[in-house]
Amino acid sequence: MKEFNSTASSIKESIFSQMTVLAKKYNAINLSQGFPDFEGPAFIREALKEAVGIKALGQYAPMPGIPLLLENLERHFASQYQLSYDKLTSLTITNGATEAIMVASLALLEPGDEVILFEPFYDSYPVAAELAGAKVKVVTLHGDDFRWNDDELRQAFSPKTKLIYFNNPHNPTGRVFNKDELLQLSELVKEYDCYILSDEVYEFLTFDDNQHIPIATLPEMQERTLTIGSAGKTFGHTGLKVGWLASSPEISHACRMVHQFNVFSVNPMAQYAVAKGLEQMGSYSKEFKKLYTHKRDLMHHVLLESGLTPCQTEGTYFTLVPIPKSFLEQDYDDISFCRYLIEKHHTATIPPSAFYRKSDEGKRYLRFCFAKSEELLKEAGSNLQNLLKKS
Ligand SMILES: Cc1ncc(COP(=O)(O)O)c(C=O)c1O
Repeated sequence: MKEFNSTASSIKESIFSQMTVLAKKYNAINLSQGFPDFEGPAFIREALKEAVGIKALGQYAPMPGIPLLLENLERHFASQYQLSYDKLTSLTITNGATEAIMVASLALLEPGDEVILFEPFYDSYPVAAELAGAKVKVVTLHGDDFRWNDDELRQAFSPKTKLIYFNNPHNPTGRVFNKDELLQLSELVKEYDCYILSDEVYEFLTFDDNQHIPIATLPEMQERTLTIGSAGKTFGHTGLKVGWLASSPEISHACRMVHQFNVFSVNPMAQYAVAKGLEQMGSYSKEFKKLYTHKRDLMHHVLLESGLTPCQTEGTYFTLVPIPKSFLEQDYDDISFCRYLIEKHHTATIPPSAFYRKSDEGKRYLRFCFAKSEELLKEAGSNLQNLLKKS
């Protein structure tokens, strides 16, 4: 049997299930899970209803995806980012971004290869890399502004480096990496002749002046980049599980081979709804950003009112919050403070140390998800009142 030596994934499973049980017991407001508790746009549900009536969508979809979705995605990359991907050879529809991450890892990596990932990381990355037999090297994003150290980044690269796992906008820190950072990373990718998996599932969730720049748009990077996207976040229906992978025809071919013998194809009705959703992006993306800017601001207000000092949230629907000094002095870490908030303030969050492998820095934060209704966020605000006074 495979040994899952990914400590992060096993810790995560046991801690998260303990926290879920506790949250239920204490009837806590749930700001832990990374999905909306409110309905996504009606046009997706309408398209799903329409799909049920289309006979051809009741049968297996073509392996790479249904033509309408591939066509709309090709147009999306071209109009949004001036990136040209041929729908016939360079785009593949997957069962969510999660399948795309696994497919890319199995297609590219051989035992003995090295991969680099940034912590805190999305938990699929180390598991996918290790299932493919690769060795994981970790670069920590430091401080409350979550930046890498230039020397640590360079030292992580070696002649064996094959793939970098990169998430931008970044879960759980809420960072949107800027052009200088992207250029620095892309120069190293070129110097070491490797590839980058760019997980951009929050591409439409950036706030204020922060702009999402796909790393594939930087000079000579498109052929080295596997861009991964997902409809779940953007269209507020994570259950759709429709994702995609965009890359060069050569990489796409290898990925399609894994996809073919793994799941073969993705639910065509869900694909149809996503294709129709992409047609609405012109007006919907503004609405979407406005809705989440309001939620981000409300979340920050609620946290500040309770005496907490959230880190900046440039993108995604997550905010990391440092554990107050007075609690750290009493030896609280992320897990015990998370438990404390559930038991005493009826508010459930995520302890982020499960997203770290190398440093202990994650023990100093909690992750709050604000993809929640206004009422729920306000209720969390009343539950968290007097948090610091009660310590
Ligand atoms: C950074 C990141 N990548 C990938 C995924 C998985 O996306 P999907 O639901 O499309 O598989 C998530 C979901 O939370 C995520 O946060």
